[in-house]
Amino acid sequence: MNTFPENFLWGGAVAAHQVEGGWNVEGKGVSIADVMTAGGNGISREITDGVIENRYYPNHEAIDFYHLYKEDIQLFKELGLKVLRTSINWTRIFPNGDDKEPNEKGLKFYDDLFDELRANGIEPVITLSHFEIPFHLYKAYGGFKNKQLIPFFTRYAETVMTRYKNKVKYWMTFNEINNQADGQHDLHTWTNSAILFDQNETQANKEEIIYQAAINELIASAQVVKLGHKINPKFQIGCMVAYVPVYPYSSKPEDQMAAQKVMNRRFFYSDVHARGEIPQYVLKEWDRKNYSIDISDEEKKILKEGTVDYIGFSYYMSGTVTTLDEKGEMINDFPKAKWLSNPHVKASDWGWQIDPVGMRYTLNILDQRYQLPLFIVENGFGAYDKVENDEIHDQYRIDYIHAHIAEMKKAVLEDGVNLLGYTPWGIIDIVSFGSGEMEKRYGMIYVDKNNDGKGTLKRLKKDSFKWYQGIIASNGADI
Ligand code: BG6
Repeated sequence: MNTFPENFLWGGAVAAHQVEGGWNVEGKGVSIADVMTAGGNGISREITDGVIENRYYPNHEAIDFYHLYKEDIQLFKELGLKVLRTSINWTRIFPNGDDKEPNEKGLKFYDDLFDELRANGIEPVITLSHFEIPFHLYKAYGGFKNKQLIPFFTRYAETVMTRYKNKVKYWMTFNEINNQADGQHDLHTWTNSAILFDQNETQANKEEIIYQAAINELIASAQVVKLGHKINPKFQIGCMVAYVPVYPYSSKPEDQMAAQKVMNRRFFYSDVHARGEIPQYVLKEWDRKNYSIDISDEEKKILKEGTVDYIGFSYYMSGTVTTLDEKGEMINDFPKAKWLSNPHVKASDWGWQIDPVGMRYTLNILDQRYQLPLFIVENGFGAYDKVENDEIHDQYRIDYIHAHIAEMKKAVLEDGVNLLGYTPWGIIDIVSFGSGEMEKRYGMIYVDKNNDGKGTLKRLKKDSFKWYQGIIASNGADI
């Protein structure tokens, strides 16, 4: 057989806050994405204390999918997508997060969106929390470090899972839940957990708080998995983890050890999601560092009972670490392992290492570790595109995706990995999460809008559109 399995879920992926716009319409509340300004390539986005007049917030309009989704869905249909991964914007449903009643207009929007997708033969794959935590939950509760967010998230999830129980089958709880793991990138602790740190927090305190927030999210996720299965036993509810396989820089045993320790920071999340237990290597770390993480026996039971049906993950790049610090001493603990560029692979204009073989490697690692179905829910190439006579010749994007699908195909056909589907990221150009740029483009559909927010929003098909259309139509035979 030279094709992917029948019913393989070929699709595309976006997230509500990166496409929808309509940030304050029909009762929607302010989300954490609404207070992130535009950064740039190598320039961080600023997080402001609420929405400040005269600042530019690229997610406020994004690509106006909120109003233009019907025509975008026609393009997705033409492309041949079988699934579209997007998220529900939490603040359309519960504008503040702690509201007594959900916002009917927000619920109606997703009814219409899912109906439109289904009417066009496209199944929605839904992330419940993709960097869209209500801003009020940060201000009033301190974000996910506070256990009160568990019932707020659960109620939101229960509301939408009940409402859309016949329209959505595939769900994911928290997007790239592990990205906050190293505690070094404030943007990630913000987007994953919206943690309000006290002024006098040290790095070590921060790490402990992030662990607490992560545990709270993992409990919330498990609770929602349990609940979802009651709402509709046919639901498939997964986690979503960012996988960056980390290689040892050299064959020195210590480098191998360092790479494994760094990987544990990722595995921690999927281990809990999939096995329902906090792994020993993390319990030992908490002991060693004197962390006291609040988790009750009842909560441990929830973790055990709410394990996921599949592992959803993003794959963009690999990483490389060594144990030597600047003084030449061994470093033995994450996050001190030193990251180096891998001399064997190239990188994108944003410095992301391009490594298709790492995709096959990751699929094998996850398959062997969990024996659960896998779902690649993000993979793609952020690049500068040039428009010439309404055409975009993005051969570099085709090359990237082709190489990754080829490795994915080997993992499925030669290695026997159980893969549900593949939804390349930013199937249509979107606002970049990391930089807030429009011009870091991932799409196979171009959107006429620039970094400064100007443009007609007109959509154009890139060369990759036609190419991917052929891949889907042949169920991967043409790779
Ligand atoms: C993942 C996120 O981190 O990678 C997406 O789930 C994000 O939201 C994507 O857009 C690509 O990152 P960036 O920073 O290039 O947009």
